[in-house]
Amino acid sequence: MSPFLAAIFLHGLCLANAVNLTTVYEWDKFDFVWPSGTDTSIGQIEQNFNPKQVELQYMAVFGERLYLSMILRPGIPATLVWMPKRGTSTTPPKLAPFPSWNLHKKDNCDSIQWANGLETDTDGRLWVIDQGSNNCPSKIWIFNLLNNDKTERVHQFPPLVVSHSDSERLLLDIVLDETPDDSLAYIADLLSEHIIVYSRKTDKSWTITTPWMRWYSLALSPNREARQLYLGRYGWNETYSVSVSELKNQGGSAAVKFIGNWAEHNLYRMVIDSANVMYAAFTNQNYLSKWNVSQPFREQRFHEVGILNSGWPFTFALDTSGNFWMTQRNSTGGETKHKLRTGTLRPALETSGGCANLAEDYRKSQSLVTIMIWLLVFFVVLSCSVIVWLTLRMRRMQTSFRQIPMENKGEMNVLLETKH
Ligand SMILES: *[C@@H]1O[C@H](CO)[C@@H](O)[C@H](O)[C@H]1NC(C)=O
Ligand SMILES: *[C@@H]1O[C@H](CO)[C@@H](O)[C@H](O)[C@H]1NC(C)=O
Ligand SMILES: *[C@@H]1O[C@H](CO)[C@@H](O)[C@H](O)[C@H]1NC(C)=O
Ligand SMILES: *[C@@H]1O[C@H](CO)[C@@H](O)[C@H](O)[C@H]1NC(C)=O
Repeated sequence: MSPFLAAIFLHGLCLANAVNLTTVYEWDKFDFVWPSGTDTSIGQIEQNFNPKQVELQYMAVFGERLYLSMILRPGIPATLVWMPKRGTSTTPPKLAPFPSWNLHKKDNCDSIQWANGLETDTDGRLWVIDQGSNNCPSKIWIFNLLNNDKTERVHQFPPLVVSHSDSERLLLDIVLDETPDDSLAYIADLLSEHIIVYSRKTDKSWTITTPWMRWYSLALSPNREARQLYLGRYGWNETYSVSVSELKNQGGSAAVKFIGNWAEHNLYRMVIDSANVMYAAFTNQNYLSKWNVSQPFREQRFHEVGILNSGWPFTFALDTSGNFWMTQRNSTGGETKHKLRTGTLRPALETSGGCANLAEDYRKSQSLVTIMIWLLVFFVVLSCSVIVWLTLRMRRMQTSFRQIPMENKGEMNVLLETKH
């Protein structure tokens, strides 16, 4: 097999294994579902809305809805929105504030100020991290999606857990560890060397110190028995993990374990599916990577698109049926376009490695080709030697066959001579 043929073969393999994402919606620019009433404060917000400022960060899925959070910037009226998973018409949906405009009042501490990390639990609750503002401390909000999106819990972090000074905290990601007797949330604070833990059962929060390390993104492995929390860093390409059993030690510290280096820095979003595959996105990169966390660390390319020119080009989440949901932001040429894409993850097809590390596979295939060539050379040399040996042997046999009659003739002559 020539290296060229090997490359074609591997390319075919790669296409067969790439996830097939179909586009559900496309937006040239986002719009909000504005209130129909005569609330003048909302009217002002509508005039101030700047669609180019929409930079989606986190996503969660439950039932027929997608929940999305975006960076708080001038011109953004609400940082937490929802939309239907699938539309009936071809026009893309508008962003609907979640749960309502009433919970998105600026500098009203009974409102959401800046929603960041989102997660849904199996009982239909939406957990939201609220960074707060200058005047409003950080909080966790828990909404019941199966009961008219009712606010079920608001936990304001005490100052010992999360600083009440807005400039000393940046709460980002949240993951949920659902166990038979409690649901724990793990939260990253980019400005502190710790992991924040919240218990729904006791309504208490605490920190676990991770000396010298601050975290940007979080993911939880599906195996409850030996569950690991994976930790991504800002400004680095390193990933770490910690056993969740170490996070129950309130006020203690945890030893994080180095896992591996990604090719890129700033892993800002990661999720792990039920087949133990982690999907990861990096700031300013137009691709997603994956890694099977039950194997030694090995980065593989999962999905790649053309130029996007976005700081946070993707956000994504998994639904309970194993579907991958992803938004893609393209801010090329002064415009800001978005797509919602989805696809089914097929673990059976993923096992052979997918598209990723094509270079490495190619290198492997080339060394395979080299080995095959050497084997071929060896066999050619071996068969030549065997042929030469056989030829020589046959010649020797032929000579001895020819010699036998000669000798017989001689003997006969001797016999004849003695007879005569
Ligand atoms: C991807 O989906 C499209 C549309 O459903 C289909 O035409 C195409 O064959 C699929 N490709 C692969 C590799 O499954
Ligand atoms: C990770 O980053 C370091 C520098 O920060 C770099 O030397 C290293 O090559 C990177 N790792 C990979 C796998 O690219
Ligand atoms: C992003 O937008 C530019 C300009 O419209 C376009 O050329 C490019 O193909 C888009 N990128 C993707 C991945 O669609
Ligand atoms: C992940 O790795 C484990 C252990 O090698 C393997 O059994 C499993 O099939 C892999 N999963 C996928 C989706 O490749």
